[in-house]
Amino acid sequence: MSQKLEVIKQNVIECTKCDLCQTRTNAVPGKGNFHSDVIFVGEAPGRNEDVRGEPFVGVAGKKLSFALEEAGISRDDVYITNIVKCRPPKNRVPTVMERDTCKNYLNEEIAIIKPKLICILGNTAFNSLLGGSEITKFRGKLVRKDNQFYFLTVHPAATIYNQELIEVLKGDIKKLFELITELKNGNEIKVDIEYSS
Ligand code: URA
Ligand code: SF4
Repeated sequence: MSQKLEVIKQNVIECTKCDLCQTRTNAVPGKGNFHSDVIFVGEAPGRNEDVRGEPFVGVAGKKLSFALEEAGISRDDVYITNIVKCRPPKNRVPTVMERDTCKNYLNEEIAIIKPKLICILGNTAFNSLLGGSEITKFRGKLVRKDNQFYFLTVHPAATIYNQELIEVLKGDIKKLFELITELKNGNEIKVDIEYSS
């Protein structure tokens, strides 16, 4: 891991900036390849992640790994993180205050890795990063904001009891890596939504 990411990781592990530090077992820093072309951003750690201190290692994580493998990508090739780094009690949605307090860590991860594309997993990440809602309506789309590309898809947890959604996630992830290939080849890609800030 890069030294700068290692510093962020340590800061996250020791962080007491919001109340979630009081109920967590372990903080969950981002994990993966810092040369990755893409950062996957989920909501917040769940029970398994809280116990192990790693992102997406429970059932939702299995779904994400599966969708990646189907696209021919290993988890170790990419970087995976969350909007909020500590588990909210009973897996409730993190509050706006918690998200704002934790945001700096994600901004730093993005600044260091400089991904070609940020893959937003589900509504909380969509709302936190782009102010959006209704991910099922916007999923599969490519967004550009402040010269950064974002790709929108459903949260892997939403696919657990929904066979149709796992197909959707698989298709979206495949498309995401096709877009990355186009970008790497220097080709123009079609932006579905332009945000101005
Ligand atoms: N759900 C998330 O949003 N993130 C995780 O790390 C695990 C489950
Ligand atoms: Fe710190 Fe983020 Fe954990 Fe809150 S959720 S204690 S801001 S690392």
